[in-house]
Amino acid sequence: MPAPNFDVIVSLAKRRGFVFPSSEIYGGMAGFWDYGPLGVELKNNVKQAWWRHMVSLRDDVVGLDAAIIMHPRVWEASGHVAGFSDPMVDCRNCKLRFRADDLKGAPSDIACPNCGMKGTLTEARQFNLMFATHVGPVAESASVAYLRPETAQAMFVQFENVATSMRRKLPFGIAQIGKSFRNEITPGNFIFRDRELEQMEMEFFVHPRDEDEWFAYWVGERHRWWTDVLGIDAENLRLRPHDPDELSHYSKQTTDIEYRFPIGWSELEGIADRTDYDLQAHTAGSGKKLAIFDEASGEHVVPYVIEPAAGVDRAVLTVLVDGYTEEQLAKDKRVVLRIRPELAPVKAAVLPLLRNRPELVERARALTGDLKRRVAAMYDDTASIGKLYRRQDEIGTPFCVTVDVESLDDGAATIRERDSMTQERVALEHIPERIEALVAGRTPWQGVPRETSGEAS
Ligand code: GAP
Repeated sequence: MPAPNFDVIVSLAKRRGFVFPSSEIYGGMAGFWDYGPLGVELKNNVKQAWWRHMVSLRDDVVGLDAAIIMHPRVWEASGHVAGFSDPMVDCRNCKLRFRADDLKGAPSDIACPNCGMKGTLTEARQFNLMFATHVGPVAESASVAYLRPETAQAMFVQFENVATSMRRKLPFGIAQIGKSFRNEITPGNFIFRDRELEQMEMEFFVHPRDEDEWFAYWVGERHRWWTDVLGIDAENLRLRPHDPDELSHYSKQTTDIEYRFPIGWSELEGIADRTDYDLQAHTAGSGKKLAIFDEASGEHVVPYVIEPAAGVDRAVLTVLVDGYTEEQLAKDKRVVLRIRPELAPVKAAVLPLLRNRPELVERARALTGDLKRRVAAMYDDTASIGKLYRRQDEIGTPFCVTVDVESLDDGAATIRERDSMTQERVALEHIPERIEALVAGRTPWQGVPRETSGEAS
């Protein structure tokens, strides 16, 4: 199925409580979004999948959770004060600002893309993307600080504390998940380009002679995470090495992992070879030598850094776009979010067939309570069973449990699987354990089609 356009995803995300425009009742704010009740669960699941794969399951990577505001000299040394900027062009007539790379031609020759006037565009000027603020009660130049535009710098600045406290030798990595801020000139495409974003970054410190080997390793490893852990269709992913003229100021080589979005192939993650650029820069900036003893050579070395840097918001968007499917059934159409059970915000929904039968409702509520102790579960009786199934399909819930009149006699209920719509009849007391095992992939699904469900496709 071709990728759905963003409008379909934006509408589903809002309708079903994944993502809302920030401050919507005041008209919203471009580049800022709020994750709703289901969005926060999905986002947490994505972050957990990253942390587990990049930190918990490895021996050579440790974590960090650093402050968002760092000493302003960090950003001078890192090159962000001087170099983290885009060339911008202003229109003297309508006052709008554009990225120079988006304009087709020299500013003096072309009309303003907004108001259409010719001769009103200024020459390109560098515009720094860092958000500045003031620390302390007086707003003066000495109190200026920046909201971090990447999480990476804390891993360089804390390199020695981490290496010493955790007794690390090369190679090893420091990983962090957290918010970053960029005053993007053209935020947009839903949560693809934000001004407040979240990143999952890891700085992997290696001996300089091993740079190429580790770069290739991390490109392969990260691609595998998107396909095998997040379950993204490999057909919709590609690796794109950067041309020399598009490399960031700190990078010697970068390969992007891109996804085929409705807007075209776009970056999800960059794997960069940052060499010793940052550690040298902070050595010069702080006067403190950032190096590590290398047992093999018996010398102190300044490590090189291979950095896989991914965006959380883009990962969430990719899961939504890649999982979205529309299916024609015998009687109607359904939208299904075919996402991995581990990522689904709700793993099981309990749906009583008749909400006016107190005994049924009581059993269903008790079952929901038992399920919640094992997996994310919810109870819903606010519509007919057909509608309830559709709602759960649309939010990617892998299993629905229907408690029906027979349940009162046989003490069992029906589990229905999202993608196949087949069903299993399972004793109520075994349902939580069964669903937990299914979600974890420890046991195969053995459902059979049920004519009476009216869902046969
Ligand atoms: N530390 C390296 C670094 O920050 P980057 O390519 O600028 O590199 C890494 O950012 C990832 O962060 C990107 O691949 C993207 O997924 C995400 N990202 C960057 N800018 C973003 C924005 N404005 N909105 C959402 N995600 C963004």
